Amino acid sequence: MAELKGILLAGGKGTRLYPMTRVASKQLQPIYDKPMVYYPLTTMLLAGVRDVLIISSPEDTPRFQDLLGDGSQWGIRLSYQVQPEPRGIAQALVIGEEFIGEHPVFLMLGDNLIYGRLDFLRTAVQDLGDGATVFAYRVRNPSEFGVVEFDASYQVLSIEEKPKAPKSDWAVPGLYLYGPGAAKKAHQLAPSGRGEYEITDLNRLYLKEGKLRAMPMGRGIAWLDTGTPQSLLEASNFVHSVETRQGLLVGSPEEAAYRMGWLSADGVRACLKDLPVGNDYRSYLERILAEAGQG
Ligand code: G1P
Repeated sequence: MAELKGILLAGGKGTRLYPMTRVASKQLQPIYDKPMVYYPLTTMLLAGVRDVLIISSPEDTPRFQDLLGDGSQWGIRLSYQVQPEPRGIAQALVIGEEFIGEHPVFLMLGDNLIYGRLDFLRTAVQDLGDGATVFAYRVRNPSEFGVVEFDASYQVLSIEEKPKAPKSDWAVPGLYLYGPGAAKKAHQLAPSGRGEYEITDLNRLYLKEGKLRAMPMGRGIAWLDTGTPQSLLEASNFVHSVETRQGLLVGSPEEAAYRMGWLSADGVRACLKDLPVGNDYRSYLERILAEAGQG
């Protein structure tokens, strides 16, 4: 299979987080000890994606570039494109059409945080073919999300965007896998009632062709989204609890790239130069090297 490419969509106005988001976008806000975008980016790396396109607003794209650079410092490739107006998640595939080429693509939203073993993601990538895979996460409040209904062989029966009467408790998190040709399909979409190119409408096109699979995420996985002050605090508390208990960082791209074998010990040492001595993030990377006998 051709290399899996990644698109990280960090768009939107973040209006629910005003006044914080007047100076920096939602995905640059801190989740405990790191900018939010570090978490989905790390998830993408751990899923095996080494070439990521980051899409954001005209104002924020330069800020993401300042923060993340071209990825070479982590042994990965990062590129950037602008979404002039927040016109929906599916538009990311149209914007990224050239970047995707004939490759399969992993699209992830910059405000979604996944924690836990990612084997389910790697399995889904292997089984992708030319169809699409959505993930499914059991929630108490499905009406607030895309909702998917599926049969025992994980074929999708229905998928609806924020339905008043949900057909299941399975929400669709903001990560999606598409085989080659997704951008071409996204061109067929018309804007929805809220003026957006809905990702759920794209997934429905796959459903019509019998090419949409659902993969439930198990109970051991935490999925958090972080669009409101409350959910931001909850995500921070969650990361704080896990990190304090284990002494391991959640959402470090340096560590992920190192563990994937894309960043050498020397590469990690070079990253230390950008982190002040005594800083906790730096100490953590130093500890990883020491534990690998590379200190
Ligand atoms: C979007 C999708 C929705 C999905 C959610 C996940 O909603 O449209 O299907 O469940 O992301 O975060 P939005 O947050 O744009 O309203």
